[in-house]
Amino acid sequence: MSKYLNLKNMDSVPTTEPDRQLYIIKQLREAMDKYKQETGSSPCYKVVTFGCQMNARDSEKLSGILEAIGYEATESEDADFVIYNTCTVRENANLKVYGRLGTLKKIKENRPGMLIALCGCMMQEPHVVEKLRTSYKHVDIIFGTHNIYKLAELIWDRLDSGSMIIDIWKDTDKIVEELPEHRKYSFKSGINIMFGCNNFCSYCIVPYVRGRERSRRPEDILAEIRRDVSHGVVEVMLLGQNVNSYGKTLETPVTFAQLLTQVEKIDGLERIRFMTSHPKDLSDELIQVMAGSKKICPHLHLPLQSGSTRILKKMNRKYTKEDYLNLVEKLRNACPDISLTTDIIVGFPGETEEDFQETLDVVEKVRYDSAYTFIYSKRNGTPAASMEDQVPEDVIKDRFDRLLEKVQTIASQVCARHEGQVMDVLVEQINHQDKHLVTGRLSNNTVVHFPGDASMIGKLVPVLLKECKGFYYIGELYEKR
Ligand code: 5AD
Ligand code: SF4
Repeated sequence: MSKYLNLKNMDSVPTTEPDRQLYIIKQLREAMDKYKQETGSSPCYKVVTFGCQMNARDSEKLSGILEAIGYEATESEDADFVIYNTCTVRENANLKVYGRLGTLKKIKENRPGMLIALCGCMMQEPHVVEKLRTSYKHVDIIFGTHNIYKLAELIWDRLDSGSMIIDIWKDTDKIVEELPEHRKYSFKSGINIMFGCNNFCSYCIVPYVRGRERSRRPEDILAEIRRDVSHGVVEVMLLGQNVNSYGKTLETPVTFAQLLTQVEKIDGLERIRFMTSHPKDLSDELIQVMAGSKKICPHLHLPLQSGSTRILKKMNRKYTKEDYLNLVEKLRNACPDISLTTDIIVGFPGETEEDFQETLDVVEKVRYDSAYTFIYSKRNGTPAASMEDQVPEDVIKDRFDRLLEKVQTIASQVCARHEGQVMDVLVEQINHQDKHLVTGRLSNNTVVHFPGDASMIGKLVPVLLKECKGFYYIGELYEKR
Protein backbone atom coordinates (compact mmCIF):
# COMPACT_ATOMS: atom_id res chain seq x y z
CA MET A 1 0.00 0.00 0.00
CA SER A 2 2.99 2.30 0.60
CA LYS A 3 3.22 3.35 -3.04
CA TYR A 4 -0.23 4.96 -2.76
CA LEU A 5 0.74 7.17 0.17
CA ASN A 6 1.20 10.85 -0.55
CA LEU A 7 4.14 11.61 1.70
CA LYS A 8 4.00 15.34 0.95
CA ASN A 9 0.73 15.48 2.84
CA MET A 10 2.68 14.77 6.01
CA ASP A 11 4.09 18.31 5.91
CA SER A 12 0.76 19.73 7.07
CA VAL A 13 0.02 17.15 9.73
CA PRO A 14 -1.46 18.71 12.91
CA THR A 15 0.67 18.51 16.05
CA THR A 16 -2.13 18.20 18.61
CA GLU A 17 -4.22 15.12 19.40
CA PRO A 18 -6.61 13.69 18.38
CA ASP A 19 -6.43 15.89 15.24
CA ARG A 20 -3.05 14.46 14.30
CA GLN A 21 -4.29 10.87 14.33
CA LEU A 22 -7.55 11.75 12.55
CA TYR A 23 -5.53 13.44 9.82
CA ILE A 24 -3.22 10.44 9.40
CA ILE A 25 -6.18 8.05 9.37
CA LYS A 26 -7.68 10.11 6.53
CA GLN A 27 -4.41 9.96 4.54
CA LEU A 28 -4.16 6.21 5.01
CA ARG A 29 -7.82 5.82 4.05
CA GLU A 30 -7.23 7.64 0.77
CA ALA A 31 -4.24 5.41 0.01
CA MET A 32 -6.27 2.34 0.95
CA ASP A 33 -9.16 3.38 -1.33
CA LYS A 34 -6.77 3.78 -4.27
CA TYR A 35 -5.17 0.42 -3.48
CA LYS A 36 -8.57 -1.27 -3.36
CA GLN A 37 -9.63 0.34 -6.63
CA GLU A 38 -6.50 -0.70 -8.50
CA THR A 39 -6.06 -4.19 -7.12
CA GLY A 40 -9.70 -5.12 -6.56
CA SER A 41 -8.76 -6.60 -3.18
CA SER A 42 -10.10 -5.73 0.28
CA PRO A 43 -7.40 -5.94 2.95
CA CYS A 44 -8.61 -7.52 6.19
CA TYR A 45 -7.49 -7.38 9.83
CA LYS A 46 -7.59 -9.48 12.95
CA VAL A 47 -7.02 -8.18 16.50
CA VAL A 48 -6.17 -10.96 18.97
CA THR A 49 -6.71 -10.02 22.61
CA PHE A 50 -4.94 -11.64 25.54
CA GLY A 51 -5.69 -10.87 29.19
CA CYS A 52 -8.13 -8.62 30.96
CA GLN A 53 -11.10 -6.39 30.19
CA MET A 54 -8.84 -3.34 29.90
CA ASN A 55 -7.09 -5.05 26.99
CA ALA A 56 -10.44 -6.04 25.47
CA ARG A 57 -11.44 -2.37 25.58
CA ASP A 58 -8.11 -1.29 24.05
CA SER A 59 -8.71 -3.81 21.26
CA GLU A 60 -12.01 -2.12 20.41
CA LYS A 61 -10.07 1.10 19.93
CA LEU A 62 -7.45 -0.62 17.76
CA SER A 63 -10.20 -2.22 15.65
CA GLY A 64 -11.89 1.17 15.27
CA ILE A 65 -8.72 2.75 13.92
CA LEU A 66 -8.08 -0.14 11.50
CA GLU A 67 -11.64 0.04 10.19
CA ALA A 68 -11.41 3.80 9.76
CA ILE A 69 -8.30 3.20 7.63
CA GLY A 70 -10.34 0.79 5.52
CA TYR A 71 -9.39 -2.67 6.73
CA GLU A 72 -12.24 -5.15 7.04
CA ALA A 73 -12.65 -7.47 10.02
CA THR A 74 -11.96 -11.17 9.66
CA GLU A 75 -11.95 -14.09 12.09
CA SER A 76 -8.73 -15.64 10.83
CA GLU A 77 -5.12 -14.73 11.49
CA ASP A 78 -4.47 -15.33 7.79
CA ALA A 79 -5.05 -11.61 7.31
CA ASP A 80 -3.37 -8.50 5.89
CA PHE A 81 -2.98 -6.89 9.31
CA VAL A 82 -2.69 -8.97 12.47
CA ILE A 83 -2.21 -7.41 15.86
CA TYR A 84 -1.63 -9.18 19.18
CA ASN A 85 -2.71 -7.14 22.17
CA THR A 86 -0.66 -8.90 24.82
CA CYS A 87 -0.83 -9.57 28.56
CA THR A 88 2.08 -10.23 30.89
CA VAL A 89 0.39 -10.71 34.27
CA ARG A 90 1.42 -14.36 34.27
CA GLU A 91 4.27 -15.96 32.40
CA ASN A 92 2.19 -18.49 30.43
CA ALA A 93 0.48 -15.65 28.54
CA ASN A 94 3.91 -14.55 27.29
CA LEU A 95 4.86 -18.02 26.12
CA LYS A 96 1.64 -18.27 24.12
CA VAL A 97 2.52 -15.11 22.18
CA TYR A 98 5.95 -16.39 21.13
CA GLY A 99 4.38 -19.66 19.98
CA ARG A 100 1.76 -17.94 17.88
CA LEU A 101 4.30 -15.59 16.32
CA GLY A 102 5.99 -18.68 14.85
CA THR A 103 2.74 -19.62 13.11
CA LEU A 104 2.28 -16.06 11.85
CA LYS A 105 5.70 -16.17 10.23
CA LYS A 106 4.57 -19.00 7.95
CA ILE A 107 1.38 -17.13 7.07
CA LYS A 108 3.38 -14.01 6.23
CA GLU A 109 5.64 -15.95 3.86
CA ASN A 110 2.58 -16.65 1.70
CA ARG A 111 1.05 -13.20 2.06
CA PRO A 112 3.23 -10.42 0.71
CA GLY A 113 2.51 -7.04 2.27
CA MET A 114 1.09 -8.56 5.47
CA LEU A 115 1.74 -6.42 8.55
CA ILE A 116 2.18 -7.85 12.05
CA ALA A 117 1.90 -5.61 15.09
CA LEU A 118 2.35 -6.31 18.79
CA CYS A 119 1.17 -4.10 21.61
CA GLY A 120 -0.03 -4.22 25.21
CA CYS A 121 1.54 -5.01 28.57
CA MET A 122 4.16 -7.51 27.44
CA MET A 123 5.73 -4.88 25.17
CA GLN A 124 6.44 -2.64 28.16
CA GLU A 125 9.14 -5.10 29.26
CA PRO A 126 12.50 -4.20 27.69
CA HIS A 127 13.77 -7.80 27.55
CA VAL A 128 10.69 -8.81 25.51
CA VAL A 129 11.22 -6.04 22.97
CA GLU A 130 14.90 -6.94 22.68
CA LYS A 131 14.06 -10.58 22.00
CA LEU A 132 11.48 -9.60 19.36
CA ARG A 133 13.83 -7.13 17.73
CA THR A 134 16.60 -9.65 17.30
CA SER A 135 14.77 -12.96 16.82
CA TYR A 136 11.33 -12.10 15.41
CA LYS A 137 12.20 -9.91 12.46
CA HIS A 138 8.89 -10.61 10.73
CA VAL A 139 7.17 -8.32 13.25
CA ASP A 140 6.51 -4.88 11.75
CA ILE A 141 5.27 -2.67 14.58
CA ILE A 142 5.83 -2.86 18.35
CA PHE A 143 4.16 -0.45 20.73
CA GLY A 144 3.04 -0.45 24.34
CA THR A 145 0.11 0.38 26.58
CA HIS A 146 0.43 4.17 26.62
CA ASN A 147 0.26 4.96 22.91
CA ILE A 148 -2.35 2.66 21.39
CA TYR A 149 -4.12 5.77 20.11
CA LYS A 150 -1.13 6.22 17.77
CA LEU A 151 -1.70 3.05 15.74
CA ALA A 152 -2.41 4.94 12.50
CA GLU A 153 0.77 6.98 12.81
CA LEU A 154 2.81 3.84 13.51
CA ILE A 155 1.38 2.18 10.39
CA TRP A 156 2.28 5.27 8.42
CA ASP A 157 5.84 5.21 9.80
CA ARG A 158 6.16 1.54 8.94
CA LEU A 159 4.96 2.00 5.36
CA ASP A 160 7.15 5.07 4.96
CA SER A 161 10.37 3.62 6.43
CA GLY A 162 10.03 0.00 5.36
CA SER A 163 11.59 -1.16 8.63
CA MET A 164 10.43 -2.40 12.04
CA ILE A 165 8.88 0.38 14.13
CA ILE A 166 9.34 0.25 17.90
CA ASP A 167 7.60 2.91 19.98
CA ILE A 168 7.39 2.21 23.71
CA TRP A 169 6.70 4.90 26.31
CA LYS A 170 7.72 4.36 29.92
CA ASP A 171 4.72 6.27 31.26
CA THR A 172 2.33 9.01 30.23
CA ASP A 173 0.04 11.61 31.70
CA LYS A 174 -1.86 11.85 28.41
CA ILE A 175 -5.38 10.56 27.82
CA VAL A 176 -6.37 10.92 24.16
CA GLU A 177 -10.13 10.86 23.55
CA GLU A 178 -12.42 10.95 20.53
CA LEU A 179 -10.82 8.43 18.20
CA PRO A 180 -12.77 5.82 16.24
CA GLU A 181 -13.62 2.55 17.95
CA HIS A 182 -15.39 -0.64 17.06
CA ARG A 183 -17.60 -1.94 19.87
CA LYS A 184 -17.96 -5.70 20.16
CA TYR A 185 -21.54 -5.48 21.44
CA SER A 186 -24.19 -2.89 20.57
CA PHE A 187 -25.99 -3.16 23.93
CA LYS A 188 -23.17 -3.21 26.48
CA SER A 189 -19.90 -1.39 26.64
CA GLY A 190 -16.72 -1.14 28.66
CA ILE A 191 -15.81 2.39 29.73
CA ASN A 192 -12.31 3.22 30.92
CA ILE A 193 -12.54 5.46 33.92
CA MET A 194 -8.88 5.31 34.88
CA PHE A 195 -5.60 3.88 33.70
CA GLY A 196 -2.58 2.49 35.55
CA CYS A 197 -2.08 1.38 39.12
CA ASN A 198 -0.19 2.79 42.10
CA ASN A 199 -0.52 -0.14 44.46
CA PHE A 200 2.59 -2.18 43.75
CA CYS A 201 1.34 -5.47 45.13
CA SER A 202 4.64 -7.29 45.42
CA TYR A 203 3.82 -10.08 42.92
CA CYS A 204 2.27 -7.85 40.26
CA ILE A 205 3.81 -6.42 37.13
CA VAL A 206 0.86 -4.17 36.23
CA PRO A 207 2.16 -0.96 37.88
CA TYR A 208 5.39 -1.32 35.87
CA VAL A 209 3.68 -1.91 32.51
CA ARG A 210 0.55 0.25 32.85
CA GLY A 211 2.19 3.17 34.64
CA ARG A 212 0.86 5.51 37.32
CA GLU A 213 -2.79 5.97 38.09
CA ARG A 214 -4.61 8.52 35.88
CA SER A 215 -8.33 9.18 36.04
CA ARG A 216 -10.45 10.43 33.17
CA ARG A 217 -12.51 13.53 33.85
CA PRO A 218 -16.07 12.72 34.96
CA GLU A 219 -17.55 14.89 32.22
CA ASP A 220 -15.71 12.88 29.54
CA ILE A 221 -16.85 9.59 31.07
CA LEU A 222 -20.46 10.74 31.34
CA ALA A 223 -20.44 12.07 27.77
CA GLU A 224 -19.14 8.72 26.49
CA ILE A 225 -21.82 6.78 28.37
CA ARG A 226 -24.59 9.14 27.17
CA ARG A 227 -23.40 8.71 23.60
CA ASP A 228 -23.31 4.91 23.96
CA VAL A 229 -26.79 4.88 25.49
CA SER A 230 -28.09 6.97 22.60
CA HIS A 231 -26.75 4.18 20.34
CA GLY A 232 -28.59 1.44 22.22
CA VAL A 233 -26.27 0.53 25.10
CA VAL A 234 -28.16 -0.51 28.27
CA GLU A 235 -25.26 -1.84 30.37
CA VAL A 236 -21.86 -0.31 31.10
CA MET A 237 -18.82 -1.77 32.80
CA LEU A 238 -16.64 0.94 34.34
CA LEU A 239 -13.04 -0.21 34.03
CA GLY A 240 -9.90 0.48 36.03
CA GLN A 241 -7.22 -1.51 37.88
CA ASN A 242 -8.44 -0.02 41.14
CA VAL A 243 -11.72 1.83 40.62
CA ASN A 244 -12.05 2.59 44.32
CA SER A 245 -9.28 5.14 44.09
CA TYR A 246 -10.88 6.83 41.05
CA GLY A 247 -10.67 10.61 40.93
CA LYS A 248 -7.99 11.20 43.55
CA THR A 249 -5.54 12.69 41.07
CA LEU A 250 -8.01 14.92 39.21
CA GLU A 251 -7.68 18.71 39.39
CA THR A 252 -11.03 18.74 41.16
CA PRO A 253 -11.03 15.44 43.05
CA VAL A 254 -14.14 13.27 42.76
CA THR A 255 -14.84 9.99 44.52
CA PHE A 256 -15.84 6.81 42.72
CA ALA A 257 -19.14 6.85 44.63
CA GLN A 258 -19.84 10.37 43.35
CA LEU A 259 -19.09 9.29 39.80
CA LEU A 260 -21.50 6.35 40.16
CA THR A 261 -24.23 8.68 41.42
CA GLN A 262 -23.85 10.73 38.25
CA VAL A 263 -23.81 7.67 35.98
CA GLU A 264 -26.97 6.39 37.68
CA LYS A 265 -28.85 9.51 36.51
CA ILE A 266 -28.37 8.74 32.80
CA ASP A 267 -31.78 7.95 31.34
CA GLY A 268 -31.98 4.77 29.30
CA LEU A 269 -29.03 3.16 31.08
CA GLU A 270 -30.25 0.06 32.92
CA ARG A 271 -27.24 -1.64 34.45
CA ILE A 272 -23.94 -0.42 35.85
CA ARG A 273 -21.03 -2.73 36.61
CA PHE A 274 -17.47 -1.92 37.57
CA MET A 275 -14.16 -3.64 38.08
CA THR A 276 -11.72 -4.03 39.81
CA SER A 277 -12.16 -3.06 43.47
CA HIS A 278 -9.25 -3.13 45.87
CA PRO A 279 -10.52 -4.05 49.36
CA LYS A 280 -8.28 -1.47 51.02
CA ASP A 281 -9.98 1.43 49.21
CA LEU A 282 -13.60 0.30 49.27
CA SER A 283 -15.38 3.11 51.11
CA ASP A 284 -18.53 3.19 53.22
CA GLU A 285 -19.74 5.89 50.84
CA LEU A 286 -19.53 3.40 47.97
CA ILE A 287 -21.38 0.72 49.93
CA GLN A 288 -24.17 3.21 50.67
CA VAL A 289 -24.42 4.24 47.01
CA MET A 290 -24.56 0.58 45.94
CA ALA A 291 -27.23 -0.21 48.51
CA GLY A 292 -29.43 2.68 47.38
CA SER A 293 -28.99 2.18 43.65
CA LYS A 294 -31.47 0.70 41.20
CA LYS A 295 -28.92 0.35 38.42
CA ILE A 296 -25.67 -0.77 40.03
CA CYS A 297 -25.59 -4.55 39.70
CA PRO A 298 -25.52 -6.52 42.97
CA HIS A 299 -22.12 -7.96 42.17
CA LEU A 300 -18.69 -7.09 43.42
CA HIS A 301 -15.38 -8.52 42.27
CA LEU A 302 -13.22 -8.20 45.37
CA PRO A 303 -9.81 -9.82 44.93
CA LEU A 304 -8.69 -11.60 48.10
CA GLN A 305 -5.32 -12.92 46.78
CA SER A 306 -4.65 -14.72 50.08
CA GLY A 307 -6.53 -15.35 53.30
CA SER A 308 -3.37 -15.22 55.42
CA THR A 309 -2.58 -11.89 57.06
CA ARG A 310 1.10 -12.80 57.04
CA ILE A 311 1.10 -13.42 53.28
CA LEU A 312 -1.09 -10.38 52.60
CA LYS A 313 1.55 -8.27 54.29
CA LYS A 314 4.29 -9.78 52.11
CA MET A 315 2.04 -9.14 49.11
CA ASN A 316 1.75 -5.46 50.14
CA ARG A 317 -2.04 -5.66 50.01
CA LYS A 318 -2.55 -3.37 53.03
CA TYR A 319 -5.42 -5.30 54.65
CA THR A 320 -5.64 -8.25 57.01
CA LYS A 321 -7.81 -11.35 56.87
CA GLU A 322 -10.08 -9.73 59.47
CA ASP A 323 -10.31 -6.42 57.54
CA TYR A 324 -11.44 -8.38 54.50
CA LEU A 325 -14.02 -10.42 56.38
CA ASN A 326 -15.36 -7.27 58.11
CA LEU A 327 -15.70 -5.58 54.75
CA VAL A 328 -17.65 -8.55 53.39
CA GLU A 329 -19.94 -8.42 56.42
CA LYS A 330 -20.55 -4.71 55.92
CA LEU A 331 -21.34 -5.29 52.25
CA ARG A 332 -23.73 -8.14 53.02
CA ASN A 333 -25.50 -6.09 55.70
CA ALA A 334 -26.03 -3.23 53.27
CA CYS A 335 -26.74 -5.35 50.15
CA PRO A 336 -27.99 -8.76 51.39
CA ASP A 337 -28.24 -10.36 47.96
CA ILE A 338 -24.87 -9.26 46.64
CA SER A 339 -22.79 -11.74 44.63
CA LEU A 340 -19.12 -11.75 45.47
CA THR A 341 -16.37 -12.99 43.19
CA THR A 342 -12.64 -12.94 43.74
CA ASP A 343 -9.08 -13.63 42.60
CA ILE A 344 -6.82 -15.90 44.63
CA ILE A 345 -3.14 -16.66 44.16
CA VAL A 346 -1.76 -19.98 45.35
CA GLY A 347 1.92 -20.53 46.10
CA PHE A 348 3.12 -17.01 46.82
CA PRO A 349 6.71 -17.20 48.16
CA GLY A 350 6.77 -18.42 51.73
CA GLU A 351 3.16 -19.66 51.73
CA THR A 352 2.88 -22.49 54.26
CA GLU A 353 0.11 -25.04 54.68
CA GLU A 354 -1.21 -22.92 57.58
CA ASP A 355 -1.34 -19.84 55.35
CA PHE A 356 -3.16 -21.85 52.72
CA GLN A 357 -5.67 -23.07 55.33
CA GLU A 358 -6.42 -19.40 56.09
CA THR A 359 -7.28 -18.91 52.42
CA LEU A 360 -9.60 -21.92 52.48
CA ASP A 361 -11.16 -20.52 55.64
CA VAL A 362 -12.00 -17.19 53.94
CA VAL A 363 -13.44 -19.06 50.95
CA GLU A 364 -15.69 -21.01 53.31
CA LYS A 365 -16.77 -17.94 55.22
CA VAL A 366 -17.42 -15.64 52.26
CA ARG A 367 -18.96 -18.24 49.95
CA TYR A 368 -18.05 -16.69 46.62
CA ASP A 369 -20.24 -16.96 43.53
CA SER A 370 -17.04 -17.71 41.69
CA ALA A 371 -13.32 -17.30 42.11
CA TYR A 372 -10.47 -17.02 39.64
CA THR A 373 -7.66 -19.09 41.06
CA PHE A 374 -4.10 -18.53 39.88
CA ILE A 375 -0.83 -20.30 40.42
CA TYR A 376 1.74 -17.74 41.51
CA SER A 377 3.86 -16.72 38.55
CA LYS A 378 7.24 -15.14 39.13
CA ARG A 379 7.46 -11.82 37.28
CA ASN A 380 10.95 -10.41 36.86
CA GLY A 381 11.36 -6.97 38.34
CA THR A 382 8.68 -7.39 41.02
CA PRO A 383 9.75 -7.58 44.69
CA ALA A 384 8.26 -11.07 45.10
CA ALA A 385 10.49 -12.49 42.35
CA SER A 386 13.55 -12.10 44.57
CA MET A 387 11.91 -13.37 47.76
CA GLU A 388 13.27 -16.53 49.29
CA ASP A 389 11.17 -19.66 49.93
CA GLN A 390 9.63 -19.99 46.49
CA VAL A 391 7.11 -22.83 46.98
CA PRO A 392 7.85 -26.12 45.14
CA GLU A 393 5.69 -26.79 42.09
CA ASP A 394 4.13 -30.05 43.34
CA VAL A 395 3.06 -28.39 46.61
CA ILE A 396 1.47 -25.52 44.71
CA LYS A 397 -0.33 -27.90 42.36
CA ASP A 398 -1.76 -29.87 45.28
CA ARG A 399 -2.99 -26.69 47.00
CA PHE A 400 -4.39 -25.36 43.75
CA ASP A 401 -6.45 -28.52 43.22
CA ARG A 402 -7.81 -28.42 46.76
CA LEU A 403 -8.72 -24.76 46.45
CA LEU A 404 -10.44 -25.27 43.11
CA GLU A 405 -12.49 -28.15 44.49
CA LYS A 406 -13.67 -26.03 47.43
CA VAL A 407 -14.40 -22.97 45.30
CA GLN A 408 -16.43 -25.00 42.81
CA THR A 409 -18.45 -26.89 45.40
CA ILE A 410 -19.42 -23.68 47.17
CA ALA A 411 -20.06 -21.79 43.93
CA SER A 412 -22.53 -24.39 42.69
CA GLN A 413 -24.48 -24.15 45.96
CA VAL A 414 -24.41 -20.35 45.97
CA CYS A 415 -25.39 -20.07 42.33
CA ALA A 416 -28.53 -22.18 42.90
CA ARG A 417 -30.04 -19.74 45.42
CA HIS A 418 -32.33 -18.14 42.84
CA GLU A 419 -33.79 -21.38 41.48
CA GLY A 420 -37.53 -21.02 40.91
CA GLN A 421 -37.40 -17.20 40.88
CA VAL A 422 -38.18 -14.86 37.98
CA MET A 423 -35.32 -12.45 37.28
CA ASP A 424 -34.35 -10.08 34.47
CA VAL A 425 -31.84 -11.36 31.96
CA LEU A 426 -29.94 -9.18 29.51
CA VAL A 427 -29.82 -11.34 26.38
CA GLU A 428 -26.35 -11.33 24.83
CA GLN A 429 -26.25 -13.87 22.04
CA ILE A 430 -27.58 -16.99 20.41
CA ASN A 431 -26.29 -20.00 22.34
CA HIS A 432 -23.17 -21.46 20.75
CA GLN A 433 -24.22 -25.09 21.17
CA ASP A 434 -27.96 -24.90 20.52
CA LYS A 435 -29.33 -22.25 18.18
CA HIS A 436 -32.83 -22.53 19.67
CA LEU A 437 -31.46 -21.10 22.92
CA VAL A 438 -30.26 -17.60 23.78
CA THR A 439 -27.66 -16.78 26.43
CA GLY A 440 -27.71 -13.81 28.76
CA ARG A 441 -26.82 -12.66 32.24
CA LEU A 442 -28.59 -11.87 35.48
CA SER A 443 -27.69 -8.59 37.15
CA ASN A 444 -25.40 -10.56 39.47
CA ASN A 445 -23.53 -11.77 36.37
CA THR A 446 -24.74 -15.40 36.42
CA VAL A 447 -25.25 -16.87 32.95
CA VAL A 448 -28.72 -18.08 31.90
CA HIS A 449 -29.67 -20.11 28.80
CA PHE A 450 -33.30 -20.25 27.66
CA PRO A 451 -35.35 -20.78 24.49
CA GLY A 452 -35.42 -17.61 22.40
CA ASP A 453 -34.33 -15.96 19.17
CA ALA A 454 -32.08 -13.24 17.81
CA SER A 455 -34.77 -10.55 18.20
CA MET A 456 -34.17 -10.70 21.97
CA ILE A 457 -30.47 -9.79 21.79
CA GLY A 458 -29.76 -6.61 23.72
CA LYS A 459 -33.08 -6.72 25.59
CA LEU A 460 -33.79 -7.20 29.29
CA VAL A 461 -36.43 -9.89 29.64
CA PRO A 462 -37.97 -11.67 32.67
CA VAL A 463 -36.91 -15.31 32.88
CA LEU A 464 -38.04 -18.11 35.17
CA LEU A 465 -34.86 -19.75 36.50
CA LYS A 466 -35.89 -23.37 36.28
CA GLU A 467 -32.74 -25.27 37.02
CA CYS A 468 -29.24 -24.39 38.19
CA LYS A 469 -26.55 -26.47 36.50
CA GLY A 470 -23.64 -25.56 38.74
CA PHE A 471 -22.51 -22.25 37.28
CA TYR A 472 -25.44 -21.34 35.06
CA TYR A 473 -29.19 -21.62 34.82
CA ILE A 474 -31.56 -23.16 32.32
CA GLY A 475 -34.62 -20.91 32.21
CA GLU A 476 -37.79 -20.06 30.38
CA LEU A 477 -39.13 -16.71 29.25
CA TYR A 478 -41.65 -15.62 31.86
CA GLU A 479 -44.92 -14.41 30.45
CA LYS A 480 -47.50 -13.07 32.86
CA ARG A 481 -50.76 -14.88 32.54
N1 5AD B 1 1.02 -14.57 39.60
C1 5AD B 1 -0.22 -15.07 39.65
N2 5AD B 1 -1.33 -14.33 39.59
C2 5AD B 1 -1.18 -13.00 39.47
N3 5AD B 1 -2.08 -12.00 39.40
C3 5AD B 1 -1.42 -10.84 39.27
N4 5AD B 1 -0.09 -11.05 39.28
C4 5AD B 1 0.08 -12.40 39.41
C5 5AD B 1 1.21 -13.24 39.48
N5 5AD B 1 2.46 -12.75 39.44
C6 5AD B 1 -3.52 -12.22 39.48
C7 5AD B 1 -4.11 -11.50 40.69
C8 5AD B 1 -4.90 -10.39 40.05
C9 5AD B 1 -5.30 -11.01 38.74
C10 5AD B 1 -5.72 -10.05 37.68
O1 5AD B 1 -4.15 -11.71 38.33
O2 5AD B 1 -4.97 -12.39 41.37
O3 5AD B 1 -6.00 -9.98 40.83
FE1 SF4 C 1 -1.64 -5.50 40.37
FE2 SF4 C 1 -2.28 -4.93 42.89
FE3 SF4 C 1 -2.48 -3.02 41.00
FE4 SF4 C 1 -4.20 -5.09 41.00
S1 SF4 C 1 -3.99 -3.52 42.62
S2 SF4 C 1 -3.12 -4.25 39.21
S3 SF4 C 1 -2.91 -6.78 41.73
S4 SF4 C 1 -0.60 -4.00 41.72
